[in-house]
Amino acid sequence: MEKRNQLIKFIVSGLIVVAAVLLLAGLLGGDMMYHLANRGELGPLSREDISYLHVDAPAATSRDGAVSASDWAQAYPYIVATMGNNDRNTYVVDYLEQDPYLVNIYEGFGFAKDYGSARGHEYTLEDVAKTQRPHALANCLTCKTPNFTKLVNDQGVGVYTMDFNEVLDMMEENVSCYNCHGNDAGNAGQITITHSYVLTALGENASAIDPATLSCGQCHIEYYFTPTDKETMMPYSSVEGMTPEAILAYYDEMVLPDGTVGFYDWVQPGTGTRMLKAQHPEMETYLLGPHAALLNCADCHMAVEMAEDGTVYHSHMIESPLANATLLSTCAQCHGDTDMVAFVGRIQERVTARETEVGLKLSGLKDALTEAVSAGAMSEAELDAVRALHREAQWFFDFCYVENAEGAHNSALAFHCLDTSEAKIDEALALLGL
Ligand code: HEC
Ligand code: HEC
Ligand code: HEC
Ligand code: HEC
Repeated sequence: MEKRNQLIKFIVSGLIVVAAVLLLAGLLGGDMMYHLANRGELGPLSREDISYLHVDAPAATSRDGAVSASDWAQAYPYIVATMGNNDRNTYVVDYLEQDPYLVNIYEGFGFAKDYGSARGHEYTLEDVAKTQRPHALANCLTCKTPNFTKLVNDQGVGVYTMDFNEVLDMMEENVSCYNCHGNDAGNAGQITITHSYVLTALGENASAIDPATLSCGQCHIEYYFTPTDKETMMPYSSVEGMTPEAILAYYDEMVLPDGTVGFYDWVQPGTGTRMLKAQHPEMETYLLGPHAALLNCADCHMAVEMAEDGTVYHSHMIESPLANATLLSTCAQCHGDTDMVAFVGRIQERVTARETEVGLKLSGLKDALTEAVSAGAMSEAELDAVRALHREAQWFFDFCYVENAEGAHNSALAFHCLDTSEAKIDEALALLGL
């Protein structure tokens, strides 16, 4: 009897725990959260307040059949107008001036010549046309314009190796509706993933990612150009494969057309190291971070606004949540009355200070290895062991440095990358006897 009572007690308390966990998960789940907030008079607007329209796609006026922003202006005047405001963010930081050690660690690669921070989506074509980094092939247009996306979809991956300038002349719009909606925006603003490599890489695993997040993740990701076709590609096939460790392994294991193993972006002249260059892994960093299960990119970067005529819509002006009072007000639902500008600022300060510390050390390793190579006292095998660590150290450093939120999306990952980088640097220095 005693035993049976204990068993019942055990089962009941188990059920209570399960119920509590479910309740908590439900409360933290994005939709529920918003629902509760919107019952209150002062709660910010949310997507629940939007009246989604079903309208026929207008005829495309572009040469290639991608329905452009101006074509949608009649159906969606506010969305088109706010997307046009993406020319407001013109502020650019010259990273090479801010952190001169970058010129040394990127030696032999385009980023040593020209590397500034991102600005608004309305500048993509202008900025890709004027960068000092060499771009012989059209594949550099992958993330700049819907017209290139349409060209790939119509003509296949052969267009990645077309001449850059020839294709640039055919491009009509900066990042626009077709990139994120195809021509389907009339279908209640349906998100359509148009960049074919996303589905090639992720396949069915793409459905594990919120569509709004994946729409940004067509461009705000780590990618490479395949060695044979120069096709844009993502170096993983699932969210689990998005860690810097897994991506490094993917590159390390790749068999190149010449039969050698290990993808590299360039060989650094002084050290002979086969280097990798990371590029803006915002989606990967974010998906491994604390908000991944709670929010999507639009929740923090596209404010839900009300026009004078009462239309509620997602502003398509993409902004820092710290620069937009409406977006900032949504943080309070979970962060209470925390001063978010100060909170984020403190994280970014700590991350950037650590970046400088590790970056300078990495630059020192590069100099020491260059010296060892030219001194000729070490064997090739010994040097290769140092080069392997150098490649890894730079990969982990870069994965953090080039992520544009500077720790705000996932500070634990940022510090993890920098700590890993430093450990590899120390190991490499030890092999050099330093
Ligand atoms: C078709 C590719 C593409 C897609 C899709 C895309 N971006 Fe971008 N984004 C870019 C490029 C390229 C830049 C840099 C533009 C420049 O500096 O000329 C950029 C810049 C930015 C910036 C920095 C500039 C600023 O105004 O603060 C933010 C933030 C941003 N994007 C967020 C997003 C979000 C959020 C999404 C999804 C809703 C998204 N992007 C979808 C290509 C894209
Ligand atoms: C919880 C809110 C939140 C979510 C969700 C979020 N971000 Fe951010 N993001 C931030 C904050 C905060 C910053 C730092 C802004 C600053 O420094 O002013 C930032 C910065 C950025 C920047 C750099 C902006 C610049 O001016 O250079 C980009 C690009 C970006 N986010 C893209 C994305 C993408 C893509 C996603 C989805 C994969 C995403 N963000 C999801 C909060 C968020
Ligand atoms: C960079 C990606 C991106 C671009 C470019 C873009 N959208 Fe969107 N759009 C989104 C996202 C993300 C949402 C919100 C999805 C959600 O509710 O989570 C959205 C929502 C919508 C909606 C649903 C109503 C609403 O306000 O949420 C419509 C309609 C829409 N977009 C039309 C357009 C049109 C028209 C254009 C071109 C002028 C455009 N979009 C350009 C990403 C984009
Ligand atoms: C749906 C709830 C929710 C909303 C809304 C939300 N956050 Fe968070 N945020 C969290 C949770 C949960 C954590 C993790 C807390 C922890 O680890 O202690 C977090 C952590 C953070 C962190 C620390 C990230 C890191 O890796 O160090 C930043 C920065 C942040 N949030 C910014 C924002 C901003 C800015 C907004 C509004 C634009 C926002 N959050 C909106 C739930 C939310």
